[in-house]
Amino acid sequence: MLIKNILTQSPMSQDVEIYGWVRTKREMKNLVFVEVNDGSCFAGIQATFNEPDETLANEFASLTTGASVKITGKLVASPASGQAVEVAAVSLAVLGKAPAETDGDIPAYPLQKKRHSLEFLREIAHLRARTNTFGAVARLRSSMAFAIHRFFKERDFQYLHTPIITAGDCEGAGAMFQVTTLSAKEAGQWAKDFFGKQTFLTVSGQLEAETYAMALSRVYTFGPTFRAENSNTARHLAEFWMVEPEAAFADLKDNMDLAEEFLKYIIKSALEECADELAFFDTHVEKGIIESLGQTANAKFTHVTYTDAVRELEKNKSLFEFEPRWGCDLQSEHEKFLTEKIAGGPVIVTDYPKEIKAFYMKLNDDNKTVRAMDVLVPRLGEIIGGSQREDDYEKLCNRIKEAGMSPKDYSWYLDLRRYGTAPHAGFGLGFERLIQYISGMANIRDVIPYPRAAGQAGL
Ligand code: 4AD
Ligand code: MG
Repeated sequence: MLIKNILTQSPMSQDVEIYGWVRTKREMKNLVFVEVNDGSCFAGIQATFNEPDETLANEFASLTTGASVKITGKLVASPASGQAVEVAAVSLAVLGKAPAETDGDIPAYPLQKKRHSLEFLREIAHLRARTNTFGAVARLRSSMAFAIHRFFKERDFQYLHTPIITAGDCEGAGAMFQVTTLSAKEAGQWAKDFFGKQTFLTVSGQLEAETYAMALSRVYTFGPTFRAENSNTARHLAEFWMVEPEAAFADLKDNMDLAEEFLKYIIKSALEECADELAFFDTHVEKGIIESLGQTANAKFTHVTYTDAVRELEKNKSLFEFEPRWGCDLQSEHEKFLTEKIAGGPVIVTDYPKEIKAFYMKLNDDNKTVRAMDVLVPRLGEIIGGSQREDDYEKLCNRIKEAGMSPKDYSWYLDLRRYGTAPHAGFGLGFERLIQYISGMANIRDVIPYPRAAGQAGL
């Protein structure tokens, strides 16, 4: 039985078997306490050996932090504070040792200390899930992924699998990883390549999601996306997971409402389903995070146009490293200022200048701005980016050309505007940014099991 189930479901005096990894051992005269964790929940369980049998002496010797064990005994009320139950243990088997000292070729188990730096743990990513922090992050990720599917299922969005390998550049950003089987000598001879043309890892499933939204009305994708941006920041990865809903017969207002409802739903799920994990993050990672998430879950998000946001930032320009100016992208410091200082909560910024947004966004009547929306949150800045899509054939053709691309390459995408076009809108949520926001973890590399970022692709 998993420790989670023993702690929540087993009746007292029941005989139990526990399996897990030793966190700590304390030996006293005639008494040995072992704390075992199996990762099924935040808490571990204590096994107490009272006057242990001498035949167990060997086993106790190899019962060190990190060793895997099987312990049997009876579930009893615990006299110790901080735990309701413990196991009055009768048998012990060490299944796999984890030496505390270097032993021949095997270095000592690296997780000896109670607290290691996150930087150190990044170097042993294959073992870091055994720590409180990374165990909590992993369970939070799993729970949030499930909540995301539930949210969309409850609203009749169909889950769509969009391709990972693509020939198009969705964001027009040019920061893509190439996929090729050509040898170095054949480089550039795309006709000879595996697909007969140049291909890449996708930066977003959006364009393909649009084709299905224009048939099934409501769809969403949830998959890995790849960006070869060389930005070495605490919020960028080269491989990250994105959730992208797309709805037909929907405009920017519907899109903003969906994004707000979505974020609040996910945060409430975290507060309800990951209470132990959040209590840990609140104490050890970001003080007050539970209260601030509670506020976000109940707040009305502030709406502001890009133009008004820039006006507000200009009034405070002495505070910024990058001067805010109409036409320039908002920097992370600007986004944080808008959420933390002006709104005191999440902000949805809309109607950005067309020059700084992707070609597919619907042009406003002013011919200068597009129906874009970015959802910004305190501590992090942008967590969601989306828009109403251009549904007019001519206008979309022009935007493709203006972006230096060829309408021929997007003929399938343009077909959606040729045949049965309709207003439609969608957005993308960076899953790791969401986990950062909910956990308070400062670096995005610590909220994905195996981070891929510029110069970093080890296990
Ligand atoms: O704003 P972005 O680039 O929007 C799109 O890709 C659209 N196609 C989405 C859509 O409308 N369907 O990315 C969406 C979100 C960002 O708000 C951010 O949370 C996250 O994806 N994101 C990243 N997360 C981690 N590392 C990166 N390099 C990221 N780039 C974007
Ligand atoms: Mg964006």
